[in-house]
Amino acid sequence: MGEEKREKDIKEEAKEIFKRFYERTRDIQKATTEAVKEIADKTLKGVGPSKETVREIAEGIQRTFRDISSKASEVVAGVLEGVEEVTRKERRDECLKIIKERRSVTFFDPRREVPDEVIKEILNTAALTPSGYNLQPWEVIVVKSKEKKKKLRKICYDQAKVEEASANIVLIANLKAAEDHVDRVLDSWVELGYITPEERDPLRDRILKGWESPERRKRKAIRDTAMFGMSIMIIARLYGLETHPMEGFDEAKLKRFLKIGKDRIVPMIIAIGYKHPEKTLLPRAYRFTFDEFGRIV
Ligand SMILES: Cc1cc2nc3c(=O)[nH]c(=O)nc-3n(C[C@H](O)[C@H](O)[C@H](O)COP(=O)(O)O)c2cc1C
Repeated sequence: MGEEKREKDIKEEAKEIFKRFYERTRDIQKATTEAVKEIADKTLKGVGPSKETVREIAEGIQRTFRDISSKASEVVAGVLEGVEEVTRKERRDECLKIIKERRSVTFFDPRREVPDEVIKEILNTAALTPSGYNLQPWEVIVVKSKEKKKKLRKICYDQAKVEEASANIVLIANLKAAEDHVDRVLDSWVELGYITPEERDPLRDRILKGWESPERRKRKAIRDTAMFGMSIMIIARLYGLETHPMEGFDEAKLKRFLKIGKDRIVPMIIAIGYKHPEKTLLPRAYRFTFDEFGRIV
């Protein structure tokens, strides 16, 4: 229903813009015709004209052109409005397409490698993900070598995609992100004028207090890191890449394998690569709709 309504709204909008544009174009056509007629009439009448007649003609022409130019700027404004509408619609459609296209791809093409530079670009863009107090509690280890992927596959309960994907991004939530990052964050806030130097230390205390309880610390770090993961999956699509998030792994073994400290949690691993060209995914499974999972109060 939502989709249908949006489609209808867009059509209505487009119709309105076109109508406005058409009306303005018609006005300018009329004004131009009138002006040309007036000029012709006055020029014909003015054979052997007196000074006054010449002035009258010149003023008439001036008036007409002023009128045309003011209409023209209206038309231009209308066109710009229309262009803006169309651009917005195109951008929205493009973004929706990217979001809707994302699937947890099971079949990667083991022959195609994603260059390190592309992975870094994706991760640097994903780092724009918001986080509580901008503490950015995420870290990653990209497992890319053949030999390491083979070992990781075992840790991931033999999920073949781990080895077939070009790389696996191990997402790590840093439980000490507040202590580790708070000063960098607050320094930049002072520098940018978000807060005054006097506000810095009291805010620092408040932030650290919010991370005091182990439970809240865990929740904050995992929440932000999971959002970072979602960004990676969406941005990967912009590069024509596919992903697969995974929670199926032995965390203790994984931590030993990659030397991840006790003050870190691994919420998921994201396999990344190109889809196998000869294999097809099953259709997307049922998704609950807003009427089932939400309410507006
Ligand atoms: C955090 C997380 C962990 C997941 N773990 C696994 C996994 O270990 N193995 C697997 O085959 N799929 C895993 N999935 C993929 C889900 O099954 C998949 O996203 C879901 O069925 C919806 O399919 P879609 O992503 O293609 O829309 C995981 C997804 C998420 C978000």
